Amino acid sequence: MKEAPVPLIYEESVEGRQGVTLPKPGVPLSPLPAELLRDDLNLPETDELTVVRHFTRLSRQNFSIDGQYYPLGSCTMKYNPRMNEEAAGLRGFRRAHPLLGAAENQGALALIGKLQESLKKITGFTAFSLQPAAGAQGELAGVLMIRAYHQSRGNRERKRMLIPDSAHGTNPATCTMAGFTTETIPSTPSGELDLGALKDACTGEKALTLAGIMITNPNTLGLFEPRIREIITMIHNAGGLVYGDGANMNALLGILRPADLGFDVMHLNLHKTFSTPHGGGGPGAGAVGAGPLLADYLPGPLVSKTGETYGPVMPPQSIGRLKTFYGNFGVLVRAYAYIRLLGREGIRRVGEQAVLNANYVKTLIQDLYPLPFGADRPCMHEFAASPDLENHLSTLDIAKRLIDYGFHPPTVYFPLIVKEALMVEPTETESKETLDAFIGALRAIAGEAKNQPELLASAPHDTPVGRLDETAAARKPVLVYRPGGAGQLHGGG
Ligand SMILES: Cc1ncc(COP(=O)(O)O)c(C=O)c1O
Repeated sequence: MKEAPVPLIYEESVEGRQGVTLPKPGVPLSPLPAELLRDDLNLPETDELTVVRHFTRLSRQNFSIDGQYYPLGSCTMKYNPRMNEEAAGLRGFRRAHPLLGAAENQGALALIGKLQESLKKITGFTAFSLQPAAGAQGELAGVLMIRAYHQSRGNRERKRMLIPDSAHGTNPATCTMAGFTTETIPSTPSGELDLGALKDACTGEKALTLAGIMITNPNTLGLFEPRIREIITMIHNAGGLVYGDGANMNALLGILRPADLGFDVMHLNLHKTFSTPHGGGGPGAGAVGAGPLLADYLPGPLVSKTGETYGPVMPPQSIGRLKTFYGNFGVLVRAYAYIRLLGREGIRRVGEQAVLNANYVKTLIQDLYPLPFGADRPCMHEFAASPDLENHLSTLDIAKRLIDYGFHPPTVYFPLIVKEALMVEPTETESKETLDAFIGALRAIAGEAKNQPELLASAPHDTPVGRLDETAAARKPVLVYRPGGAGQLHGGG
């Protein structure tokens, strides 16, 4: 049944109604500065229960991994085990204050130190910094480290960073922020990096200006680069360094250590691979691992153990801090709990199952949703399809129709080199029954696209808010409530 939209909290306001009982202050009262006081603020006046119901209803109208299947490619929406939450809620962790000294914070520091060690074991890197608050910030750390490395050798002219055309948009953006120029390397028709173009970009005179490459493996098409060692050697021979975008480590977990391939630096999205909640701009952690050439440049502080005591240390040539204190500590607790919960064997099974699930879905929809790259080889943890579209339909229509079937749509229109891309990442935590239901929905939608295209063109039908004008929502967002006006806090059509 179609649920009605939740009314704005302002519409539930009744003048004079109040729902807050403030505790007695434990400190003497002091008057607020008059210039900070306003009586013209239009705030809703409601009782506590109305507020609770309002936000609970709103939360139910949102998609979430706890509520629905969420096969969002490149975003790894896997189940976040409840045990993680319990660990993060432990009083000692919850109430740890970063301004307490190391002696009073041994538990929290020990957790950070042990998580650094676990990530080193999983990836093979020499050292890890847990400072960055997101994947993109981890990337920034990594490319700033590459810049600092070249500068420390007097190689200020090494400013060119190579980026595959399948890369995540954050890669070129980060390089530009760090003062590099970027050069795109095309993919071959089979979805691998074009080694001929790569060679042209890093030999002869060009080698002298090469800073390095940012490469994702498995790439964003969900394909493993079989010639990755050759690529890395080519860059190293030209004096460049290799940045690995490890946002999506799921496929490699417990199977392959990126440092063994020769990557110099890599970030991991703990908020994806290591199961901490994300989405909606929530806190993340883009842990950065570095090999021997770059470990001294990591952002700090890291945590090291001397005897039985944990304490902060700044790497000798650190690029500095990227975040206050030790990063998003609550996320780190969850990631550590997850790794300990699974252990070595469990971590490997995550990788295997993620790849198996992706291949299962791919195989059972490929006849209706063809893959322009890598159709004839196994994918890793995700794949990018390019649906055959008729009747003026687009991938967006398929995505919207999936919502009516109760599924969050896969990623659409990324990677950019796949026309009308539909990028599916099932993750390892979904059951065969869920995957079968998702496959069934996609197959049914392919039938509807032929026989009842209008069903797709006007989807979704069963949501409180129907098809939005997404361009207007992005370009002309209505973010302020105006009584009696077109005040929609979510903006858009
Ligand atoms: C391949 C890849 N790189 C980088 C990022 C950026 O990570 P974040 O969103 O945490 O900044 C993402 C995020 O989805 C990604 O998929």
